[in-house]
Amino acid sequence: MRVMVTGGAGFIGSALVRHLVGTVGADVLNIDKLTYAGNLASLSSVENAANYRFLRADICDRAAMQEAFASFRPEIVMHLAAESHVDRSISGAGDFIQTNIVGTFSLLDAARGYWDGLEAEAKSAFRFLHVSTDEVYGSLGDDGLFEEVTAYDPSSPYSASKAASDHLAIAWHRTYGLPVVVSNCSNNYGPFHFPEKLIPLMILNALEGKPLPVYGNGANIRDWLYVEDHARALFTIASRGRPGEKYNVGGRNERRNIEVVERICAILDSVFPGKEAHSRLITNVTDRPGHDARYAIDATKLETELGWKAEENFDSGIEKTVRWYLDNEWWWRPLRDNVYSGERLGTFKGR
Ligand code: NAD
Ligand code: TYD
Repeated sequence: MRVMVTGGAGFIGSALVRHLVGTVGADVLNIDKLTYAGNLASLSSVENAANYRFLRADICDRAAMQEAFASFRPEIVMHLAAESHVDRSISGAGDFIQTNIVGTFSLLDAARGYWDGLEAEAKSAFRFLHVSTDEVYGSLGDDGLFEEVTAYDPSSPYSASKAASDHLAIAWHRTYGLPVVVSNCSNNYGPFHFPEKLIPLMILNALEGKPLPVYGNGANIRDWLYVEDHARALFTIASRGRPGEKYNVGGRNERRNIEVVERICAILDSVFPGKEAHSRLITNVTDRPGHDARYAIDATKLETELGWKAEENFDSGIEKTVRWYLDNEWWWRPLRDNVYSGERLGTFKGR
């Protein structure tokens, strides 16, 4: 089985590529531009595998995408390439509009051109999985869960750009018949997570004795999913999901941000003890503009229709994650030193 993955040098993409190459045994072409978030070190365990190859390219480059389709002849496309960080989208949305919207259009159109030329059997077996986020649904109140039928109501430039790309993907199915499936997942965490996102940033700041900046009062809720559970879900959806359908992915692990940060501090107190508790570093800072209050996913459709279930719960997953960062400084040190050292992102004048 030939699987084209975009964004395979990123956090979720690299977990997916490791799963596809190592466990599934698929032939994988990883297409990635290698932005600040792309890191081939996350793929060192598979880089020499016979069933893995890498193409450095921008998904906005239509000619390069057409050439990749023509030469690799994928049976499945799994599209993860994106600008993914909400705070960066607040500081400047241009790259988000370009990659997430224009890039998805470019890839969909290249896929359509290739798919149009396939024989009937290959045509009906072909799948294009568009990987998206639960943030397209906007913010929940105290009750309720996001379902596949929940109306889109995005708050940030990031989630608005992902919402636009989801609509394009579904439109390419309804209008042109391209066998598109869309997945909307909750917040991921785990190994190889770029240290701009909440969990790795807090772990590394705490290890270095730096403040742990909690936005607002820390009461915002996110629904956490271990990245390897997501990788399995993505392959399940891409190989067995029904064209034109959306599938929500989540692990039923809602936590307030402050609980997450306190848990990280408690784990570090036991595995990396200092003179004082790490929780002394927790600092409340100005809230994120447009900060969604609560995300929570109902994954019943994926669980009942396709039989996927999360294997990791938050307590076991967060402990594994903290230990991974302690053991893998070779991976994160160059990023902290040369790419992003942890300064506040996503504020602007007047807020
Ligand atoms: P990431 O930022 O870690 O990785 C993104 C990857 O895409 C990087 O390797 C980057 O180099 C590549 N890329 C960016 N622009 C590109 C372009 N124009 N052409 C080719 N490659 C490009 O992101 P992630 O957290 O792994 O997220 C992957 C996907 O999953 C995204 O589509 C994101 O919206 C979605 N998602 C993420 C989460 C989460 O919690 N991180 C949750 C749900 C859905
Ligand atoms: P983040 O990891 O950026 O993911 P997302 O915004 O896509 O959910 O943030 C997760 C939550 O943590 C979100 O409510 C914002 C909050 N947060 C902080 O409180 N401090 C931080 O330094 C960061 C990066 C995030």
